[in-house]
Amino acid sequence: MVAAPAAETAAKPFDVLVLGLGYVGLPIAIMLASSGLRAAGFDVDRRKMDMLGNGKCHIDEPEFLAIFDDVIQNKDMRFLDAVAPSDAFLIAVPTPLREQRKTADLTALTAALESIVPHLRKGNLVVINSTCPVMTCRETAIPILEKSGLKVDEDFHLAYCPERLYPGNIAYEIVNNEHIIGGHNAEATTRAAALYKGFVKGELVLTDDVTAEFCKLIENTYRDVNIALANELRTVAHRFGTDIDNAIDIANRHPRVNLLKPGIGVGGHCLPIDPWFIVEMAPEETRLIPEARRINDEQPKRIAAEVRRAVAAKRDAVIGCYGVTYKPDVNDERESPAWEIVHLLQADGYNVQVYDPVVNVGDYADLTDFVAKVDILVVLVEHTQFTRAFAQGIGDKPVLRF
Ligand SMILES: NC(=O)c1ccc[n+]([C@@H]2O[C@H](COP(=O)([O-])OP(=O)(O)OC[C@H]3O[C@@H](n4cnc5c(N)ncnc54)[C@H](O)[C@@H]3O)[C@@H](O)[C@H]2O)c1
Repeated sequence: MVAAPAAETAAKPFDVLVLGLGYVGLPIAIMLASSGLRAAGFDVDRRKMDMLGNGKCHIDEPEFLAIFDDVIQNKDMRFLDAVAPSDAFLIAVPTPLREQRKTADLTALTAALESIVPHLRKGNLVVINSTCPVMTCRETAIPILEKSGLKVDEDFHLAYCPERLYPGNIAYEIVNNEHIIGGHNAEATTRAAALYKGFVKGELVLTDDVTAEFCKLIENTYRDVNIALANELRTVAHRFGTDIDNAIDIANRHPRVNLLKPGIGVGGHCLPIDPWFIVEMAPEETRLIPEARRINDEQPKRIAAEVRRAVAAKRDAVIGCYGVTYKPDVNDERESPAWEIVHLLQADGYNVQVYDPVVNVGDYADLTDFVAKVDILVVLVEHTQFTRAFAQGIGDKPVLRF
């Protein structure tokens, strides 16, 4: 691997250049290089680029690190100072939610597209990986790319290929998951599929760009609505004193029932966001999706109320909250409902102590040390190491598990 200035590499276009080297873009770039392509990556985050340029990876997953190290040492993977000519451009930049209006913020995507325009040549392929509202390829990407003077389908090709990566299992999923390949025309689909064929063992599902955009949103919306139902049923179960997990396990034995687990809320950067992209497209037609979003958004308040009830007899109890990531075993605290619960309890004046060994939160030697210093243990995110320790016994302090 060499950190190459763009000027040095301008003479010969890369096979593929990935814009945005985060959780999605870096694995794709690394896998494309591993498949033998002359690959390059560019990110506006200078610190990330310096790290990568020094052969260091910001994704802390052992299996992926092994592939990363192998590619850096043995394959043709460059990290660039600027966007440069390439046969194919892949875009994996953030598409967050504008919280107030609940609409997609496409600022990074449009900036990435604009940065490609001066380098776009006849025969190039542009692939968007970022999660977007439906019609983003046609209504946002094409008008920007055609500022180059080139015409889509005639001069360059455009495809939408969403990612389904599960952080924590990136190395396996990027290779083995099915991938949706949605071209703006048939040739774009074929060209994009050829890139993915180099490293994907899962099936490539070929479709058009609009369907691919919609499928990505459907998948995460399905999960969000399903979890909202589970959370609602959990609240109902409390009325009868029924164990909701047991009830769901039994209901799921029905061959056509697949209810997800209730929890402390829905976090991360996909499920709380992507359903709003569907609502944004069709506000009149969507009633269930925003209601499910509200149910899941309110879940941390319900959980905080349960904790309050548990310490009602001892208002000055030290509440020990374990786990602050958005899901177990990942070092990612983005959109974490656990933090929201901690902050709600702190705002109420409770003495809340927080410990999460996965993200180094809390100044405790280990779980035993933490448990010794609190009156009640509230398990907000159950990392595997907690489950193991709990099975061996962690003393006699009261424990709330969600
Ligand atoms: N992380 C996941 O599990 C996951 C799964 C499926 C889909 N997605 C989607 O993939 C997209 C990327 O997500 P992510 O998790 O990789 O985000 P990320 O924040 O980890 O990485 C995005 C990177 O893009 C960079 N960037 C921003 N503007 C840029 C520009 N103009 N040019 C070049 N780089 C730029 C940022 O600096 C950042 O490093 C989002 O749309 C997300 O919704 C994410």
